[in-house]
Amino acid sequence: MAAAVAHAMSKRDKYAALNRTLAALLAGERDWIANLANTAALIYGELEDINWVGFYLFKDGELVLGPFQGKPACVRIAIGKGVCGAAAQRRASIVVPNVHEFDGHIACDSASNSEIVVPLLRGNELIGVLDLDSPKFERFDAEDQAGLEQVVAELLKAL
Ligand code: SME
Repeated sequence: MAAAVAHAMSKRDKYAALNRTLAALLAGERDWIANLANTAALIYGELEDINWVGFYLFKDGELVLGPFQGKPACVRIAIGKGVCGAAAQRRASIVVPNVHEFDGHIACDSASNSEIVVPLLRGNELIGVLDLDSPKFERFDAEDQAGLEQVVAELLKAL
């Protein structure tokens, strides 16, 4: 699609397109690592102003780094710690307009200024979290949250 057309799309339309692409990418494939890796790469390529996107997976009581795009990141996050650990504990998405004002934020990449974390839940079972960082303040809003929760829903269908 031409850049001019893409720019004219609303955020909601962009997420709808991204989620259609994701559904096609995941169709017929059940390898969890491959699907997480492709999802991270798709988001990183399609969304603007993102310096890190990836997954932390819940293993033996803590979050452990999974497939991602961006700079190397901290490997283990305790439940309740940082934005990722808080979203995992609350089992709810967290949008952080300014990470420097989030108590306990874990700075993996000094370029990050805002963040969104969406938990991966199967029923009430915690699978992990999807984490996106941006160098822009207030990069993420309710539409990003809805679009990324849809991404997670697509992904969990392929689990
Ligand atoms: N900032 C996150 C840590 C993970 S990195 O952003 C990749 C947090 O506070 O949980």
